[in-house]
Amino acid sequence: MKACIIGAGGSGIAAAQVFQARGIDFDCFEKGSYVGGNWKYENDNGMSSAYRSLHINTSRRVMAFRSLPMPEDYPDYPDHFQMAAYFDEVVDRYRLRERIRFNTEVVSVEPVDGSVGEWDVTVEGPEGRETNRYGAVLVANGHHWDPRWPEPAFPGSQNFEGEQIHAHEYREPELLRGKRVLVLGIGNSAVDIAVEASRIADKTFLATRRGAWVLPKYLNGKPIDEIANPVTGSVPIPVMRAVMKRQLKVAVGEPTDYGLPKPDHKLLEAHPTVSSELLPRLGHGDITPKPNIDRFTGGRRVRFLDGSEEEADLVVYCTGYKITFPFFRPEVLSAPDNRLPLYRRVVSVERPGLYFIGFIQPLGPIMPLAEAQCEWIADLVSGRATLPPPAEMGREIDAEEERQRKRFVASKRHTVEVDFYPYLREIRRERKRDSARA
Ligand SMILES: Cc1cc2nc3c(=O)[nH]c(=O)nc-3n(C[C@H](O)[C@H](O)[C@H](O)COP(=O)(O)OP(=O)(O)OC[C@H]3O[C@@H](n4cnc5c(N)ncnc54)[C@H](O)[C@@H]3O)c2cc1C
Ligand SMILES: NC(=O)c1ccc[n+]([C@@H]2O[C@H](COP(=O)([O-])OP(=O)(O)OC[C@H]3O[C@@H](n4cnc5c(N)ncnc54)[C@H](OP(=O)(O)O)[C@@H]3O)[C@@H](O)[C@H]2O)c1
Repeated sequence: MKACIIGAGGSGIAAAQVFQARGIDFDCFEKGSYVGGNWKYENDNGMSSAYRSLHINTSRRVMAFRSLPMPEDYPDYPDHFQMAAYFDEVVDRYRLRERIRFNTEVVSVEPVDGSVGEWDVTVEGPEGRETNRYGAVLVANGHHWDPRWPEPAFPGSQNFEGEQIHAHEYREPELLRGKRVLVLGIGNSAVDIAVEASRIADKTFLATRRGAWVLPKYLNGKPIDEIANPVTGSVPIPVMRAVMKRQLKVAVGEPTDYGLPKPDHKLLEAHPTVSSELLPRLGHGDITPKPNIDRFTGGRRVRFLDGSEEEADLVVYCTGYKITFPFFRPEVLSAPDNRLPLYRRVVSVERPGLYFIGFIQPLGPIMPLAEAQCEWIADLVSGRATLPPPAEMGREIDAEEERQRKRFVASKRHTVEVDFYPYLREIRRERKRDSARA
């Protein structure tokens, strides 16, 4: 039976490319008119979180699909326009565009009664609504589009007289001009937007509930993620941490040197916050660090946990994203608090026939890992490989959750965090084992 691919962002087109190359029949549905998902600025799917000044923060040689490098004349960290052009090149090179049904949203995915592994998929598009049956569904609808606002909302926020937005809505720096801007969070959205505000806002505050190790984009003249490679990527994390910590100390010093709180975790235990600009902007006094928001105290006033108060015209919540699947009934599948227990982060054990692509948050880029996931799924769907028994997969999921808890800071942003090279090796090993089993 045919497979169904939901979405034509980087993950969906990786699946289409691999399936086409392997001769596996599929339909691919894309809600908007473009490929590239998040990387298409002002995407008419209404889901892209890209802002005007966005560049990738994982360098191009590491982030490119293994099947097609990014153009040699691209910079180390291309912007979203270049990324969108790259995705266009991928689909045109492999003649995938005609295989994608654009402006067609998957609205429901239902298990077929009395059959294991078959799914009825309903789509709505220019030709109306239709339902088709598939032997596999590859979910690639992305996980950085549904904003997570502070939970619960800060007391008094409903009466705040300034403006409150989520990073997902932020596009152009003009919004920040001349205002007193409060940015909340210390992930990559927060540091990018705080830096942008620091140049044109009247005043910029960066409020954080924990510290972060802020990594520069370059170390020793090389993109920082090029320090890791298949060889150094097999070095134990504590060794890698010690090496990087020494280099960081020389290059930028400690976060506390710039007025940021001391991180409550070790280097590499959180998703990397990458910015070469944040620390100097703090040093210039153009960004004022603050602890977390305590409450909004009336008018435009905000109180912080240290008791200090400030006026703000605009609060930008850079508080991350929810993993959401609007096309599944919650009884079929959901990811409360971003928990998505899957075998090797791909296979649903409870729902045979469902595969998830790109539902990882690597210390590194998503795309080459999504590509490796698709190769494995192609093995499974074509019968070249067989999964272990469900009980064995369940035990491995539990063990992985346990490892995860020890490896990363406990936070909703880390439920799908993975180490880049170890995860790549894990998928390759799994492919070998599953092929031997078939
Ligand atoms: C601001 C920002 C910067 C980032 N920077 C980096 C970076 O530098 N490096 C990196 O590796 N990652 C980065 N990421 C992570 C980002 O999620 C990935 O780079 C990449 O976009 C993941 O691709 P995807 O295809 O999984 O998801 P998306 O790019 O979100 O694509 C999902 C696609 O599915 C489609 N879709 C959704 N629902 C449906 C439906 N029901 N029916 C049909 N189609 C549907 C959407 O229209 C979209 O085209 C960043 C994320 C954000 C928010
Ligand atoms: N290419 C780029 O330059 C770029 C730019 C932007 C984003 N991105 C990527 O996009 C993805 C999302 O990044 P993101 O920065 O939007 O989200 P994120 O990584 O999930 O970070 C969310 C931040 O908000 C904090 N937070 C959440 N709830 C909070 C609350 N109630 N009170 C105070 N703080 C709270 C988190 O703190 P805790 O750690 O305590 O949970 C964290 O600091 C990541 O993969 C990121 O790398 C990339």
